[in-house]
Amino acid sequence: MKKKLIVGNWKMNGSLAANESLVQALRAGLSGGAACSVALAAPAPYLAQLQALCAGSCIEIAAQDVSQHEAGAYTGEVAAAMLRDFGVRYVLVGHSERRQFHGENDAAVAEKAQRALAAGITPIVCVGETLAEREAGQTEAVVRRQLAAVIHVNGRCISEVVVAYEPVWAIGTGKTATPAQAQEVHAALRAQLAAATVHAGAVRLLYGGSMNAANAAQLLAEADIDGGLVGGASLKAPDFLSIIAAAH
Ligand code: 13P
Repeated sequence: MKKKLIVGNWKMNGSLAANESLVQALRAGLSGGAACSVALAAPAPYLAQLQALCAGSCIEIAAQDVSQHEAGAYTGEVAAAMLRDFGVRYVLVGHSERRQFHGENDAAVAEKAQRALAAGITPIVCVGETLAEREAGQTEAVVRRQLAAVIHVNGRCISEVVVAYEPVWAIGTGKTATPAQAQEVHAALRAQLAAATVHAGAVRLLYGGSMNAANAAQLLAEADIDGGLVGGASLKAPDFLSIIAAAH
């Protein structure tokens, strides 16, 4: 059976001091190990610090974004090979905040996923509908389009990805999708993968959007929810540890 995966997305939060105390508290809480895989997605300047802080623990390192280019004159960008140098195991691609505030489209997200894979990093492909799209009955069409753009490459399906379903209306709002709402979308994503690859069952599908210590267990009990992508609650060690404990 595949292990569940819980990823903390710190977004643009943290400092050297705050990161150190947060990771120390997480390490203490996880000293007996975890039943699931755990990763932390830190802002790029803190990846080296995180690598040192997490050494010898079960916590893996994730980045929040990667350049769609390999190397060269792209001021401000961070290449996948650079992330790899700092032990990065996963990278978020196509987070809704990047799609919304940084103009990322499906094609750019697909290129980022390819760059990550080429560097030996697993992309966590984020998909999700806005409230207007949900109300217009377009949820499934939107997430299917977003996923299709990434997984279909040169006539074959790439299955070495993690997929995160994050309804935009649930991110940072305290409004969580109900377990049934999330499961419905996850089942649709699983079916889409199954139509394209025999490895669909092995792909981990994470839910994200106001996941917290109180609602994690119910969400993670759904058949096609294989983990969580956690924003705000990942900044508080006790909350994040409770979510990890709910993932088995
Ligand atoms: P919140 O958990 O703060 O809603 O954020 C979810 C998210 O965007 C994780 O990537």
